[in-house]
Amino acid sequence: MLKSCFIYTLGLFSFVFLIVGLSLALSNVFPEVVQSEAKREMVLKNGTVAFDAWEKPPAPIYMQFYFFNLTNPLEVLDGDRPAVVEIGPYTYREYRPMEEVSFDDNGTKVAAVNTKTYIFQLNMSRGPESDLIRTVNIPAMTVMGLFKDEPFFANLISSYMRDKQEGLFTTRTVGELLWGYQDTLLQALHVFKPDVDPFFGLFSKNNASNDGQYVFFTGQQNYTDFARVDTWNGQSSLNWWTTDECNMINGTNGAAFHPVITKNEKLYMFSSDLCRSLYAVYEEDVTVKGIPAYRFSPPSEVFANETVNPINAGFCVPSGNCLGSGVLNVSTCKQGAPVIMSSPHFYQGDERFARSVFGMRPNKKDHQTVMDIHPLTGTILQAAKRLQVNIYVEKIPTFSQTGNVNTIIFPIVYLNESVVIDDSSVDELAAVVFKQNVVTNIPFMMIGVAILLGGVFMLLVCRQKIPESTAAERQPLLAS
Ligand SMILES: *[C@@H]1O[C@H](CO)[C@@H](O)[C@H](O)[C@H]1NC(C)=O
Ligand SMILES: *[C@@H]1O[C@H](CO)[C@@H](O)[C@H](O)[C@H]1NC(C)=O
Ligand SMILES: *[C@@H]1O[C@H](CO)[C@@H](O)[C@H](O)[C@H]1NC(C)=O
Ligand SMILES: *[C@@H]1O[C@H](CO)[C@@H](O)[C@H](O)[C@H]1NC(C)=O
Ligand SMILES: *[C@@H]1O[C@H](CO)[C@@H](O)[C@H](O)[C@H]1NC(C)=O
Ligand SMILES: *[C@@H]1O[C@H](CO)[C@@H](O)[C@H](O)[C@H]1NC(C)=O
Ligand SMILES: *[C@@H]1O[C@H](CO)[C@@H](O)[C@H](O)[C@H]1NC(C)=O
Ligand SMILES: *[C@@H]1O[C@H](CO)[C@@H](O)[C@H](O)[C@H]1NC(C)=O
Repeated sequence: MLKSCFIYTLGLFSFVFLIVGLSLALSNVFPEVVQSEAKREMVLKNGTVAFDAWEKPPAPIYMQFYFFNLTNPLEVLDGDRPAVVEIGPYTYREYRPMEEVSFDDNGTKVAAVNTKTYIFQLNMSRGPESDLIRTVNIPAMTVMGLFKDEPFFANLISSYMRDKQEGLFTTRTVGELLWGYQDTLLQALHVFKPDVDPFFGLFSKNNASNDGQYVFFTGQQNYTDFARVDTWNGQSSLNWWTTDECNMINGTNGAAFHPVITKNEKLYMFSSDLCRSLYAVYEEDVTVKGIPAYRFSPPSEVFANETVNPINAGFCVPSGNCLGSGVLNVSTCKQGAPVIMSSPHFYQGDERFARSVFGMRPNKKDHQTVMDIHPLTGTILQAAKRLQVNIYVEKIPTFSQTGNVNTIIFPIVYLNESVVIDDSSVDELAAVVFKQNVVTNIPFMMIGVAILLGGVFMLLVCRQKIPESTAAERQPLLAS
């Protein structure tokens, strides 16, 4: 009696588990719970893990520079193709905490400045910052370009340059080229025009400074807004990631998260006062420190010329003056210096740029910009932003210093700003993923238990039936 009661209870449980498990699985309630839990965590609020990571990125960020050392300056002045040797990396650890953090009254927005500091890492570099690099004399090229149509001043400047032995090319240390030096020519101009900065360096204004105030959404109202930039220096920003083209050369920026990612998403990486934004699309599945990720990178049409991608016609400045695929004139952001941005080695650019400089070897692996994102949480597991700074070099008849040089987009240096998730964040992420897996699989576990109980139930029922029937068959035998 007790035994069959137990058996039928077992059967009932199996049935109930099956029904509940199936309906939970079909109603999708657990994945939704997990998602809303994840969304609730995605908010910038004093005390949350997300806030700590946003305020003080835990993974080390490295900025690496690769210079192009010119080997044949005299031949180039005679109209030959420049031959360059890539020299690098020169590696800096980049610290970029959010500072002067202040929340608005209801916690929907947070204002902060992003102060960046670069510390040289000799053990991760090819040599010291005192290594010499021969390259274009950028202040000279800029000044010559500015005065090319004013023969009187051009003559004056040209003879001053001859006097000071300043030419189209110069040899400077890595430290000077990046972080600045007193330039003879600029110093002389400074005497006449005090607003000319006598100090020149590609990143001279960037160390231990910030580029103004950002206002971010906290994600409190809508999790998809998490850490999205609302305004930068009071200007509204339409895109996800913070940087603009001017910023691209000054250094970079970028939020650390983007909630739940799909393969169809377009990730906007840079916004800009030039009305230019770059985006990245899904490229392939990759694994970073054992964690699966989607790799996003900018498609080549982002850099295509105006015939292939008509949208890019708007970026030919001055209008109608298109340079070709894969290069962008940012001289307005650089006080008139003829700076042209591209991918390293003109990767994804018009072939003629790479062909016009001996030593360019564009390849996808080393030269593309990538972002590897964990699809479930939107965490950036790995990112590398790669950009090249070039100078537009041309023959200026009023300046004998330019000789017979060909018109060239001359590569100066490229940078790789990269980050890989740190090990303790890997552990945290793994724990979160494990918890999510357990929770989303609860209905299936219930179905599994139901099947198991059902199996035991059938077994017990059969075992109970068989002895009874054999006994019944024997009875008549015994009676006869
Ligand atoms: C966050 O809270 C800590 C201590 O509770 C406080 O010292 C800190 O100033 C707060 N930060 C912000 C940005 O409000
Ligand atoms: C939050 O405060 C801002 C002004 O500080 C206001 O414009 C906004 O409407 C408020 N939002 C909510 C949800 O109360
Ligand atoms: C940047 O500034 C910090 C602190 O002011 C200094 O320690 C560091 O050496 C500077 N880095 C460079 C590359 O000048
Ligand atoms: C770059 O080239 C110059 C001129 O040939 C040379 O003096 C210098 O040592 C080279 N730099 C490096 C780092 O090899
Ligand atoms: C970039 O740096 C230049 C000076 O080198 C500055 O004039 C410009 O405003 C900076 N741009 C941004 C976006 O910070
Ligand atoms: C634009 O790019 C395409 C493909 O690279 C090329 O065939 C075409 O000649 C380019 N057009 C111009 C105007 O440069
Ligand atoms: C780059 O843009 C500046 C400012 O719009 C313009 O003066 C210059 O001619 C352009 N350079 C090239 C090579 O088109
Ligand atoms: C940065 O990119 C360069 C090539 O562009 C590569 O050699 C280097 O290893 C990269 N650095 C990191 C830290 O990934």
